[in-house]
Amino acid sequence: HLKNSFAPYFKIGTAINIEQQLDKRRGEFTELISSQFNSLVAENAMKWDALNPEPNVYNFALSDKLIDFATERKMEVVGHVLFWHNQTPEWLFKDTNGKQVSKDLLIKRMRHHIRVLNKRYGEKIHAWDVVNEALNEDGSLRDSPWKQILGEDWVQQAFKIAQEELPPKTKLIYNDYNLHNRNKLMGLLELLHSMQANSIRIDAIGIQAHWALDYPSHKNLEFLINTLHKNKVQIHFSELDIDVLPRPKQFDGGAEITESHKYNMFIDPYKEGLPTSMQNQLANRYQGLFKVFLKHADKIDRVNFWGLTDEFSWKNQWPVANRTNHPLLFDRDGKAKAAFYSIIKTVK
Ligand code: G3I
Repeated sequence: HLKNSFAPYFKIGTAINIEQQLDKRRGEFTELISSQFNSLVAENAMKWDALNPEPNVYNFALSDKLIDFATERKMEVVGHVLFWHNQTPEWLFKDTNGKQVSKDLLIKRMRHHIRVLNKRYGEKIHAWDVVNEALNEDGSLRDSPWKQILGEDWVQQAFKIAQEELPPKTKLIYNDYNLHNRNKLMGLLELLHSMQANSIRIDAIGIQAHWALDYPSHKNLEFLINTLHKNKVQIHFSELDIDVLPRPKQFDGGAEITESHKYNMFIDPYKEGLPTSMQNQLANRYQGLFKVFLKHADKIDRVNFWGLTDEFSWKNQWPVANRTNHPLLFDRDGKAKAAFYSIIKTVK
């Protein structure tokens, strides 16, 4: 079992869709989740638009279910996500007259949101992704309503509010993708240093790890791990999956997806299943990555998969819909793939 094998090193988690995977009629998932993992994230149910789609309307049914499930089984929950530019309701950035909200009112709403969640879940949530994906690929700050309304230091402000409102034990995470790319990493370090210089707490960096068979290289990955460690933050691999489908190279640098890319990407070569040679490639890739993780286990708090089985992966819907991807450790029947055993084997 994953969680037992890696218990001496780091936590092993998965993101789940509560409606699908914690449904009693599909009990095989509850068993798979609790036997393999000791950490859980809601793939969508704790995002702002899911929790609080309208002013003063909170939907807790799904997130309560996840928290109860995890608490009963002594699994850790990571909250995903407080402040992001996606899956955030439009009303949040408007005042009652439909105009852009003032900075003061937005800050009030941010504080209120955290208070509501903290009152309900408190220390049952071990760590929060406080801010998600605030950086562009060149390391500059992404344009978003958050930046427009709160200003250039919006990420710092967000962490300050989180630090003030959440229990001191709750870990505060900044979460982003493509951090192995130099420019983006430099941007992150700038953010990090400005927070550390101003005594704003940031405990960990979530390296999303939406990766492919051929990137990032082990060398770039180790450079990233060592750099973050030197800068005094814990590391979470927060959204691990390995894309096995054809994918234009330029995406690795975060390039825009154009219509012609989409057309080229509608190729779906493994609809009938992943051939053995590809299963082995995926297994080798995962094994290589876990060897790197183990080598740096003292710096890593958690390795979290972004989805439970291949059937539910977001990679079937991105960058184009209706693909048949195979990025995870369990196949569409919930059966462990070669990749699963290759990972277990990395532990002596
Ligand atoms: O909830 C609606 C449903 O009512 C509607 O009928 C259906 C029709 O398309 O859509 C449903 O919403 C979908 C939602 O997932 C819940 O299933 C959205 O269309 C779909 O875009 C959304 O995708 C999620 C994506 O974030 C959107 O931002 C993925 O499941 C989720 O895996 C993905 O996760 C993100 C992390 O939060 C941050 N890092 C990147 C990662 C991958 O994009």
